[in-house]
Amino acid sequence: MPHIWNKCRFSVFEQTTEDLPRNRTSTKKSNGAYKLTLKGKRVLILGGTSGIGLAVAEAAKAEGSDVVVVSSKQSRVDTALTLLGEGAEGYVANLSDETAVEALFGKMGPFDHLVYTAGDSVWQRLLGETKLEDAKSFFDVRFWGAFLVTKHGSKLIRSGGSIVFTSSTLPRRPSAGFAIGASISSAVEAFAAAMAVELAPVRVNVVAPGIVRTPIWDRLPEEQREAFFAARGAALPAGKVGEPAEVAEVYLCFMRSGYTTGQIVVVDGGMLLV
Ligand SMILES: NC(=O)c1ccc[n+]([C@@H]2O[C@H](COP(=O)([O-])OP(=O)(O)OC[C@H]3O[C@@H](n4cnc5c(N)ncnc54)[C@H](OP(=O)(O)O)[C@@H]3O)[C@@H](O)[C@H]2O)c1
Repeated sequence: MPHIWNKCRFSVFEQTTEDLPRNRTSTKKSNGAYKLTLKGKRVLILGGTSGIGLAVAEAAKAEGSDVVVVSSKQSRVDTALTLLGEGAEGYVANLSDETAVEALFGKMGPFDHLVYTAGDSVWQRLLGETKLEDAKSFFDVRFWGAFLVTKHGSKLIRSGGSIVFTSSTLPRRPSAGFAIGASISSAVEAFAAAMAVELAPVRVNVVAPGIVRTPIWDRLPEEQREAFFAARGAALPAGKVGEPAEVAEVYLCFMRSGYTTGQIVVVDGGMLLV
């Protein structure tokens, strides 16, 4: 096997500068790659008032985008708008309610990128202890919300635009008691792949975060939360749990890369490797 690998490797890598036409190897001329930018784009972040979504909003705004954040609580929208500063827009809407979602897009106007990071706190339980009604309701924001904003919002996406959804590592590494969380993430990923085909040329991708230090963990008492972050972080190749800004980078990459669609990027500090 190593022989085959070496053969492939050399057949690819030896054909670098010598075999290519001269004009393709010049380092003096720009090939235009640095025009890839979010400057002047309008980015809508559903769930953009906290955690990962707020970090995406901050990063997109820093790149010169106009950002619009949406979530269900006026207080969170107000706090996010204060943080984001002049030019940011915010709306209140419960994204699991179709009437509210329709009304939201009725006043939104066109935009370039739709990012979906909305998610409520889901209590995970072993199957035998999970009530059907609870299991169904856990899909409301994370899956049905994503479905609704795509149904009502995708027609407002400008040419060259994209959608980025959020799932998790759970479909690839479910622990006991996380069946519903894993199922929601899988459903989001399957929906994204189907939308990448159905809505093309709008690009549709998914970010699958591992453990990220955001307010979603605030339901744990502070001491317990910090002990959890320290223990889980120490066990990862990255040596720590993720920060929202580190995960936001991948959302920006998906928005910029005009040739990427139907893809999932796991951002988990190496969790799936160990
Ligand atoms: N943090 C992690 O470790 C982690 C790991 C894997 C996956 N994820 C996923 O990443 C996504 C973002 O999580 P996060 O950690 O950034 O959470 P977060 O800080 O709690 O942010 C969640 C956002 O969703 C909004 N939201 C919740 N219910 C809503 C509703 N019904 N309608 C509209 N907005 C709603 C919240 O605002 P309001 O309260 O104002 O509605 C908030 O802006 C979630 O889908 C989560 O499952 C997170």
